[in-house]
Amino acid sequence: MASRLPLHIGILLGSARSPNNTSGFYKLVRQHLERLAPGSKISAYDPFTAPLPLGPYVMSAMASTLKPERREDGFANFGYPDPRVQEWSQIVQDLDALIIITPQYNWSFPSTIKEAVDHLYYEWANLPFATVNFGGMGGGDKCASALDQVIRGVHGNPVSTRKITIKLDPKYFNHDHILSGDEDFLKEHSELLDQEMRKVISAAKERQHVKKEFIMNAPAWVAEEKAKARAASQK
Ligand SMILES: Cc1cc2nc3c(=O)[nH]c(=O)nc-3n(C[C@H](O)[C@H](O)[C@H](O)COP(=O)(O)O)c2cc1C
Repeated sequence: MASRLPLHIGILLGSARSPNNTSGFYKLVRQHLERLAPGSKISAYDPFTAPLPLGPYVMSAMASTLKPERREDGFANFGYPDPRVQEWSQIVQDLDALIIITPQYNWSFPSTIKEAVDHLYYEWANLPFATVNFGGMGGGDKCASALDQVIRGVHGNPVSTRKITIKLDPKYFNHDHILSGDEDFLKEHSELLDQEMRKVISAAKERQHVKKEFIMNAPAWVAEEKAKARAASQK
């Protein structure tokens, strides 16, 4: 089905350092998206873009136990007690896909990302995700695996979660230089970035038409997914 509205693609940035290498990767990924999906709305959320950071999880209820009520605009209201979480929920519900760009931190991803994920639940259901991971020797491969696991845990759609890992030269890794996104060595990742971003764009187009209805029905969908997984594990 042809999409009439512009796609809304979110980019969640993992680094809270200033300056940081993540910003260079953001510039690069954005260039790819602008070329492959012209006219799309691309919104970046760094760890200090309000309502982030949400801090540690302090809600008494698990987000997964909250029931959606339909708002007048068709989006879901999960009744989060903290208005900042409510705002984050609305931001995520409006997305057609989310790309996470992040360095590896001690064999995983930075806590900024985990906090942003944990405060919501059904908003992530079947949302197309891609991750752009980077680091030293392994190019952020362990970060990629950890993110993939969390995304599957919240029933996201892992369109491209373990494909893009980028090894940094020690001068960037050690923060002697900050990546601008225009460096020559990044060209070797260009084809892969195009290929993976195309997958995300295609999944985002499918999501766009169903997102409001999908989130309202996400509790039933997730319950079904869990039942299927249980049945498969008993085979
Ligand atoms: C707390 C911390 C832990 C790190 N752990 C790893 C690691 O496990 N593997 C790795 O490849 N790089 C690791 N690094 C290096 C980062 O991947 C690298 O410095 C990266 O450029 C940081 O991204 P940024 O400049 O966007 O903040 C770590 C850096 C920090 C600050």
